[in-house]
Amino acid sequence: MGAVDELIYLDNAATSWPKPPEVVRAMSDFIEKAGGNPGRSGHRLSIRAGRIVYEAREALAELFSVPDPLRVVFTPGATYAINLALLGLLHPGDTVVATSIEHNAVMRPLRALEQRGVRLVIVPCAPDGTLAPLALQRAATPGTRLVVMTHASNVMGTILPVAEAAKIAHQVGALLLVDAAQSAGVLPIDMRSLGIDLLAFAGHKGLMGPPGTGGLVIGEGVDEAQMEPLVRGGTGSRSEFELQPDFLPDRYESGTSNGMGIAGLGAGVRFVRERGIEMLRSHEMELTTQLVEGLGSIPGVKVYGPLETGRRAAIVSFGVAGRQVSELGMRLDEEYGILCRVGLHCAPAAHRTMGTFPHGTVRLAPGPFNTASEIEKVIEAVERIVRS
Ligand SMILES: Cc1ncc(COP(=O)(O)O)c(C=O)c1O
Repeated sequence: MGAVDELIYLDNAATSWPKPPEVVRAMSDFIEKAGGNPGRSGHRLSIRAGRIVYEAREALAELFSVPDPLRVVFTPGATYAINLALLGLLHPGDTVVATSIEHNAVMRPLRALEQRGVRLVIVPCAPDGTLAPLALQRAATPGTRLVVMTHASNVMGTILPVAEAAKIAHQVGALLLVDAAQSAGVLPIDMRSLGIDLLAFAGHKGLMGPPGTGGLVIGEGVDEAQMEPLVRGGTGSRSEFELQPDFLPDRYESGTSNGMGIAGLGAGVRFVRERGIEMLRSHEMELTTQLVEGLGSIPGVKVYGPLETGRRAAIVSFGVAGRQVSELGMRLDEEYGILCRVGLHCAPAAHRTMGTFPHGTVRLAPGPFNTASEIEKVIEAVERIVRS
């Protein structure tokens, strides 16, 4: 460890830390007591592992108000889930609409598809990340196949109007894919009432699971026959056939699953549900308000994103006039033990929208285990660095 022993972890938008003890326990229990290959062999350890994976599927289906747990497909993270939906659904000649604040997990597959003949329409957001539904309405024309958008910006925290977007998408016959990497476990998500067709989530951020977990929830309105798998292979089912099974989740889950990770994810989802999303959100909103107000009152500091914290997830980006973000991040870590992320946050488009490209910002992202006194120390540390 560096000059300070006590760490203040404010990088929960990259991955949450620490994980709840029950997540760590579920993972070690899986390896020690249920180490079989889920859904493969018929022996007791395989059955035990399969049950744990299914229970995690059920917990996620309940969290997102999806009646059928088999519509939850596990992936190694949100990136894979987004790629599965985009590459599986879009063909040359199709039109896809996205916003100007998307993460590269969305932008890079979209740009690759554009090179293959998919028409890509980008809807500009305001510099604070706000998306005007009217702008989306103008962009989504009849014949649009898909609208894809982040639920909450990983740079500014800005929450996008997904329910309005779903209505607009459905009016023109398009599906809505939501990148919930920053909102799953953080904001209430009822897929049916919001009208979300496909939900890509990260398991290792707000859902408190381990790295290497995530998934795609496929709404009932999506015909999976129209969505090609990214990977094909063994599923433990229909082994007599050399063609990929056409049923869920096996159509999209080939190869041995990340049982240990999914066991941890299941425990993370149960932790979130037991604490309650409303309680977790109100705690994170208090810390976010404290950060926005505290940092905003330091001369020379510019805080980005909506000032009204109810319109953002617990993510605060800031910059200091005349200072490199790399220097700020390094000093926060080395001198104060404050861990954050600086730069472009894998979202150059969002920084272009915000006016902070190519230098980026310092991003602070509180989580369930941060406290008001930690945030006070962070504000004091920034104040001292700015003065020195
Ligand atoms: C908005 C957004 N989308 C996608 C991702 C990718 O998630 P994962 O690391 O689970 O693949 C992230 C992660 O930083 C993100 O913030």
